[in-house]
Amino acid sequence: MTKPWANEPFALIPSPTASKEVSKETLKVATDMCFVHNLFFRNLNAVHLQYEQVTKPEDIADFMVFCQCIHEGIHTHHHHEEEFFFPEVEVYTGQAGLMETNLQQHHAFEEGLKRFGQYVYSTKPHEYNPKDFKEILDSFTPALVKHLNDEIPTLLALEKYGGDKLLNLWQELEKRILAGAIDPYRVMPVALGSFDKTFDKNQVAPFPWFVPYLSWLWFSRKHKGAWRFSPCSIWSKPRELQFAMEK
Ligand SMILES: [Fe+2]
Ligand SMILES: [Fe+2]
Repeated sequence: MTKPWANEPFALIPSPTASKEVSKETLKVATDMCFVHNLFFRNLNAVHLQYEQVTKPEDIADFMVFCQCIHEGIHTHHHHEEEFFFPEVEVYTGQAGLMETNLQQHHAFEEGLKRFGQYVYSTKPHEYNPKDFKEILDSFTPALVKHLNDEIPTLLALEKYGGDKLLNLWQELEKRILAGAIDPYRVMPVALGSFDKTFDKNQVAPFPWFVPYLSWLWFSRKHKGAWRFSPCSIWSKPRELQFAMEK
C-alpha cells in the first residue's frame, strides 16, 4: 500500500517544448508561469488528500494556517495579473480585449476562492467540518484548474507581439509581487514546500540558493506546524504526505 502524492488529483503542467516558432523569452515566461501554477496544484492536491484525516484541534488549527497561506498565494498571483499584467499586455500589443477570456476565467473562480478564504480564516478547530470544507473547495477548483492550464498557451500565443516585451513585463510583475505586502513567515515556507525540484529541470526557482536556508533557520519556525501538510521539504524535494490515506 502506498500513499498518493501531490501530483494528483490535479495533474501538474509540464513545461512547453522549445520550437522554432517560440522565442526563448516567450518560452521562459510560459515556463515560469507553469512553475508558479504547479506550486498551486501541489498545494491544492495536498489539501485534497489530507483534509478528511485532520481531526485533532491542534492539527486543524495548523491546517487552517496552511490553507490561509495557499489562499494568499493564489489570490495575490491573480490580483497582480488582473491589476497589472493583463492590462499591460493589452497596452504593448495594442490589442484591447486580448486578455478578456483570461479575465473571465478569473471571475469564474473568484467567488469560491473568496469563500475558501473566509472559511479558513474564520473557522475555529471545533467548528471545522470536512464536508463543508470540501463543498467550498469543489465550488472553485474546476474553474481554477482549467484557468491555470489555459493560461500557458495564451502566453505562448503572445509570441507574435514580441517575446522581449513579454519578458520585460513578466520581470516587472515579479518585482511588483515581491515589493507588495507579503509575509516571509508564510510565503517563503509555503512556496518552498510546494516546489519539487525533481519534477522538471526547466521549472527552476526564481530565488537565490540561500532562501531555503533562511527559511530553515528562521522563517519556517513561526508557523512550523502548518508546514507538516506541505508536499515537499524545505529543500524542495517531494516527501510523503503525513495525513494522506494509503490506497
Ligand atoms: Fe498565472
Ligand atoms: Fe491567471
